[in-house]
Amino acid sequence: MEFILGRYSLLFYATLAFIITLITALKYLALLPVAIVLGLLAALGWHDYTQKKHSVLGNYPLMGRFRFIFESIRPELRQYFWESDTDELPFSRNQRSMVYQRAKGMIAARPFGSILDMYSEEHNWLNHSITPSQIDEHDFYTTVGHGKLAYKISVLNISGTSFGALSPPAIQALSAGAKLGGFAHNTGEGAFSKYHEAGGGDTIWQISTGYFGCRKHDGKFDPDEFKNKSRQDQIKMIEIKLSQGAKPGHGGMLMAPKVTPEIAETRGVPAFQDCISPSHHSEFSTPDELLNFVEKLRKLSGGKPVGIKLCIGHPWEFISIVKAMVDSRKFIDFVTVDGSEGGTGAAPVEFAMHLGCPLRDALVFVDNCLRGAGLRDRVKVAASGKIVSAYDIIRHCALGADWCNMARPFMFAIGCIQARDCSSSNCPSGVATMNPKRYRVMDVKDRAGRVKNFHNNTLEALKEMLEAAGLTHTHQLNRRHIVRRLSASQIKLADQIYPRVEINALIEGKPVEDPRLASYWHRVSGASFQPIDNDRL
Ligand SMILES: Cc1cc2nc3c(=O)[nH]c(=O)nc-3n(C[C@H](O)[C@H](O)[C@H](O)COP(=O)(O)O)c2cc1C
Repeated sequence: MEFILGRYSLLFYATLAFIITLITALKYLALLPVAIVLGLLAALGWHDYTQKKHSVLGNYPLMGRFRFIFESIRPELRQYFWESDTDELPFSRNQRSMVYQRAKGMIAARPFGSILDMYSEEHNWLNHSITPSQIDEHDFYTTVGHGKLAYKISVLNISGTSFGALSPPAIQALSAGAKLGGFAHNTGEGAFSKYHEAGGGDTIWQISTGYFGCRKHDGKFDPDEFKNKSRQDQIKMIEIKLSQGAKPGHGGMLMAPKVTPEIAETRGVPAFQDCISPSHHSEFSTPDELLNFVEKLRKLSGGKPVGIKLCIGHPWEFISIVKAMVDSRKFIDFVTVDGSEGGTGAAPVEFAMHLGCPLRDALVFVDNCLRGAGLRDRVKVAASGKIVSAYDIIRHCALGADWCNMARPFMFAIGCIQARDCSSSNCPSGVATMNPKRYRVMDVKDRAGRVKNFHNNTLEALKEMLEAAGLTHTHQLNRRHIVRRLSASQIKLADQIYPRVEINALIEGKPVEDPRLASYWHRVSGASFQPIDNDRL
């Protein structure tokens, strides 16, 4: 019965059909191709039946193959047919459509009112004013660093996505778009490549544990190489990556199919082998040494601003960096706070799901720490991690950021469709692949225009929201401007939710509401990332 009506029936009927068509083909030769196809199908079915690697195929020969076919196209089916407009996977259809429309210069307005549930506990908003303001310019800048090479950075910039993770035309389009729109493009850890140079946009050169683009043969930092490159005019700031939200404590990963000879040359590594950078830096192992490295890079680059990027982990480690700045008077120019909700080209699953602090909590902590140490004006703060709309920028500036960086939204702007296939080199849109047959479909000039449009239209929306709130600059945003629903009957200003720390409170020994700062400020020093009494208490 199982062969006639049950799980082996497809195998049975394929074999039967093959035998019948083969016999008939002896008389009617035209049926031979059909017999061959049925023969191949039957052979495949018998292979499924006898193999022992895939249980489902063994128990459901031929039929079981539909499971694998449907599973392989599940993300696409879901995205096109079953995903709701607000499902965040990780970005919702609403968010992606907004980016596509802004990038193409179409109106991103929605008729008929909001589809959000305003009584859900997650709901949050910006309060408006009865006296709206008027703003003439729609970009908002922050000055980072000191001296003649201090950099005036836009409130929205492109977050690090390495050459290698992204294709040559993608990198060039992002950089060219940044140039058109007057904002900055971060290289990611994969070095400053000829495609960044061709794009010509203001560049933040990121250096991570692999020291790609400024490394010696043994993988250590090469000061001469760094000096030569960092002095180029196009490079405006330097960022030392300590960690990244999607995989904190893990080195960068570029899988073998994407390590082409060109990437290998740019990074100084062997071609077509997995390129995994170490999990920690070889140049420093204490907060004081980190600050010395910052000073060294600033000097080698001729005085350019130098910052760090990190996802917040153990609170005492960041506190020890701030304490070291207070004690040594050596300063980091900016801190990029990356939330654990951030993206990556490739990361181990558990790292992406369960490691590191989400952005909003981390941002408030970093802001509090710098405020308490009296360094909030000296050290500027950037935020990244699922920021996509003008409201997101407002919300994160209100929680403590001076500017925001976006990676995946700018990838959407140049054609990414969220296929989530960034490491195999099979990206369907040509954005995250090193296969020339796949990225040939990208026109750099056209995509650069979309990058500029997305930036421009997002900041136009930002300006209008600030006006509605009666403000004239993102620097005026404060936690009290943002409201969050906590339950069906309770709402609170962010100011009343998060712990507050007064300016200079830590150095003046005043009490602080943030328990992490209250516990650890006096127990850390620049000599170690660990608390002084690391006694398991
Ligand atoms: C394909 C891809 C490659 C990335 N490469 C880097 C990198 O080289 N260095 C880095 O610091 N962050 C890298 N990131 C993380 C982003 O810079 C950013 O911190 C994170 O994705 C959060 O921003 P988003 O939510 O706007 O994407 C990468 C992200 C993606 C999606």
